[in-house]
Amino acid sequence: MSSPDKRITLAWTGASGAPYGLRLLECLLAADYHVYLLISSAARVVLATEHGLKLPSGPDAAKAALVKQLGCSADKLEVCGKEDWFSPVASGSAAPKQMVVCPCSAGTLASVAHGLSDNLLERAADVVLKERGQLLMVVRETPFSTLHLENMLKLSKMGATIMPAAPGFYHQPESIEDLVDFMVARILDHLGVEQGLVPRWGYDQRK
Ligand SMILES: Cc1cc2nc3c(=O)[nH]c(=O)nc-3n(C[C@H](O)[C@H](O)[C@H](O)COP(=O)(O)O)c2cc1C
Repeated sequence: MSSPDKRITLAWTGASGAPYGLRLLECLLAADYHVYLLISSAARVVLATEHGLKLPSGPDAAKAALVKQLGCSADKLEVCGKEDWFSPVASGSAAPKQMVVCPCSAGTLASVAHGLSDNLLERAADVVLKERGQLLMVVRETPFSTLHLENMLKLSKMGATIMPAAPGFYHQPESIEDLVDFMVARILDHLGVEQGLVPRWGYDQRK
């Protein structure tokens, strides 16, 4: 393939941190990525609780609500149903090579670590693992139980990147948006997406 595959799978699950997921979606669309968005039922509850955004249950209606919320173009956003097994993300023959689960709940972490593939979100992650693509899991829980740690270790050994939703403070954040951008910047860096959300370590300090 001569041009890079600017397609990515983004999954929102029911961990706290809906603003990370929303901001990441916004940045990926702004970077001209085609985004396949998977939203768990619990993610909808968290989105309503943390952001006041009540997404309709159908994929098309959810997409329309997100386009309105973000003021983005509808062209490159595809919201997939929980059991849309004919979605490209369900097969190694068509799935994007990159997937981010952000935020990632302990429940989804466990399901992916054990290959359950019981819904499209879990199946998409399983596909990226088997195809040796890039899987980023932005896990949010505190404290971590031994089971959580074992599941993270298992996935890390399989090649997934575990990125706990743990923003730093050394960029002197002044708002929640600054903290969200810190995490989203690290995620975009790992995906190879150009970003200028946060000053880079060592540059501003030396001025
Ligand atoms: C407001 C809210 C916040 C939650 N925060 C977390 C969290 O930070 N981490 C976590 O693992 N689960 C959290 N949960 C619980 C999960 O949503 C729950 O375990 C759910 O079954 C996860 O399902 P999913 O992985 O399919 O999205 C939260 C639930 C709600 C309603």
